[in-house]
Amino acid sequence: MLFRLIRAAAIPAALLAAVLAPAGAARAQGSLNLYCSVQLEWCQAAANAFQRDTGIRVAVSQKGSGEVLAQLRAEAGNPRGDVWFGGTGDPHLQAAEENLSAEYRSPSLDQLHDWAQKQARDSRYRTVGIYAGALGMAFNPELLARRNIAAPACWRDLLDARFRNEIQMANPQSSGTAYVMIATIVQIMGEDPAFEYLKALHRNINAYPRSGTGPIKSVARGETAVSVSFVHDAVTERLGGFPVSSAVPCEGTGYEVGSMSIIRGARNLRSAQRFYDWALTPAAQQLGAESKQFQTPSNRATPVPAEAPRMADIRLIDYDFAKYGASAERRRLIERWDREVNALPR
Ligand code: G6P
Repeated sequence: MLFRLIRAAAIPAALLAAVLAPAGAARAQGSLNLYCSVQLEWCQAAANAFQRDTGIRVAVSQKGSGEVLAQLRAEAGNPRGDVWFGGTGDPHLQAAEENLSAEYRSPSLDQLHDWAQKQARDSRYRTVGIYAGALGMAFNPELLARRNIAAPACWRDLLDARFRNEIQMANPQSSGTAYVMIATIVQIMGEDPAFEYLKALHRNINAYPRSGTGPIKSVARGETAVSVSFVHDAVTERLGGFPVSSAVPCEGTGYEVGSMSIIRGARNLRSAQRFYDWALTPAAQQLGAESKQFQTPSNRATPVPAEAPRMADIRLIDYDFAKYGASAERRRLIERWDREVNALPR
């Protein structure tokens, strides 16, 4: 300290002020690097509002849940992100187990629904639920009518020859949505029959886009008739003026606990914790619906948007998050899909 004081005294005062002031100001306000796995509109709205409320500058980078997990692994020795906001819960649990995220217990935890608190407990407080959403099938009714094809109502319908080349689902290596689908089918049918199902489905698939919302955006544009998607994403497309309907499969369906984690080794840890607490408040959670994203929010006091699919009316399976979010299991199922399904000709 003495050494630094002496050196500082040797610098002319005006120059010292010019050198120190901007750095001091930036430090006082802080900054935050947000890795975002929901649609960009929501992350940008959250970044702007948080910046307005706190003065902390937020940089947003949007990627699928599986892609962010891969990035966290690649950057583990030199983390660049501070908070991972949104995306399906399984890869957040996997990141927790792989020591890629940091433990943090927000004082707001007890305001959250049980399913969101359970996500925190399952990860030993390295992640937390911020929303929930049910998986289903989306389709373009205009396109189906033109082709004289009946809409799908059950998972098994997707294997029908009438959907040859008509279906898209995302690639589970990059997309958490696609992994929720695989884990759901495994839980409904048992693993080997599920892989027979996925192989048969492969014949009707025309593309496996990278992002979870890629398939439903193709449905909206009339490029494909059917997609495997979260049903709240169909609401977003419909409100955007596109002809998109959705169905919850008759066999029952899986769901996501969309999650948020602080990245281990975050350079802006205090800003990260402030964002985390802020993102769990009802005011922040309402930015989802304001950005036309209709998941069910995790804070019990956040109003559920009127447009959101009603989770209580959907036949949900008892999705085993601890099992299917476990690192070895998730990795194994995705590798098996790549080897036995994705490699097949169509
Ligand atoms: C969309 C959904 C979210 C979901 C996310 C996962 O944004 O609205 O509810 O968590 O996709 O994205 P991914 O690309 O990982 O499938």
